[in-house]
Amino acid sequence: LDNGLARTPPMGWMSWERFRCNIDCKNDPHNCISANLLMQMADRMAEDGYLEAGYEYLSVDDCWMAKERSQMGTLVTDPERFPNGMKAVIDYVHSRGLKFGIYGSVGNKTCKGYPGNKYHMARDAATYAEWGVDMLKFDCCNPGPNFVTGFEQMGMHLNKTGRPILYDCALAICMGPKVDYNLVKKYCNMWRNYEDVEDNWKYVFNIIEFYGKNDKNFLEIAGPGGWNDADQLIVGDFSLSAGQQQTQIGLWAIMASPLFMSVDLRNIDPIAKQLLLNKEVLAIHQDSLGIAGRRIWNINDYAVKLESWLRPLSPKGRYAVGIFNKNVGGLLQTVNRTMSQLGLTDENGYTMKEIFTGISYGPYKLSDSLVIKIPPTNLFLAVATPVTEKELIVF
Ligand code: GLA
Repeated sequence: LDNGLARTPPMGWMSWERFRCNIDCKNDPHNCISANLLMQMADRMAEDGYLEAGYEYLSVDDCWMAKERSQMGTLVTDPERFPNGMKAVIDYVHSRGLKFGIYGSVGNKTCKGYPGNKYHMARDAATYAEWGVDMLKFDCCNPGPNFVTGFEQMGMHLNKTGRPILYDCALAICMGPKVDYNLVKKYCNMWRNYEDVEDNWKYVFNIIEFYGKNDKNFLEIAGPGGWNDADQLIVGDFSLSAGQQQTQIGLWAIMASPLFMSVDLRNIDPIAKQLLLNKEVLAIHQDSLGIAGRRIWNINDYAVKLESWLRPLSPKGRYAVGIFNKNVGGLLQTVNRTMSQLGLTDENGYTMKEIFTGISYGPYKLSDSLVIKIPPTNLFLAVATPVTEKELIVF
């Protein structure tokens, strides 16, 4: 969507994957979807380095509303969980230097049965703008037959408010197999392509497979203003190993997917925190060329399950290289690939720096091989830099 926003893939925190639709503030006051939860997350983002690293949107998902609109037809924030209303929370989030994301749906009801935006879009866009909302996640729940128009109209009404509001739409999901990514990019700043992530390696793996296949070449369409969203990061949650967390954030960075953490930042494990704040991973993610990487080969043998990804970086000629051992068998996978086989083409050859270990490789000519071993489900993530003419003379 050409509204001046999302020139690089957006970053932030989203409540859904980790905090779901927990509305039980009586028995679980610390974790229910409430003003307190959002304000505490805002504090952590502002004070613990996340905002500084680029995570700027704090986005509340489904279940923030009261079950009914007001008699006037306006949206109502749940009065018990948000005793001072949503605007007070948003003011607080802004005072911490962050932006605020809210959630709605194109249909009559959200996925969890709260009021949807159908028939109320102009009014709701005005409400969001009045509250100071900076992002809308517009979902495809109970869409009805005219959902394409619904997504278009909501965007139009957001635009009319005059407030810059990042538009995160589920239009691609809603269109299903008939998805038209040109239309999706025209209407949305970011869009989900595939199923919801859950806190389990299997979900992360299936998402990677889907993006690797790149059906209808959706990765090619990403760029400043519009991004494919592989869904929230589950880094720091309950189920991924340290290596699998690197695989998720590393491939999300290569794919130029928005990075929305969904984790309890109040008690996150220090290794996961360090990973979320890893400057080199985030530099790949935020690269100014804005070209999404793709899978360039994929081996799915009985014994070897391995794939390689490549994302062009600025300044021109640099690449992010991701080699992913998809095997879940216990062996380390030996990788022995020439620079050319990794998709690299500069005649002067390359040096490489692996991001998670800091190890440098090369210089290699195009016909020289990188030889490494990758543990099961782990990712080798490196930046490849062409050898300069000067270095070539010395070398
Ligand atoms: C859908 C979306 C999720 C989340 C839930 C909320 O499943 O894909 O990301 O927003 O709805 O109900």
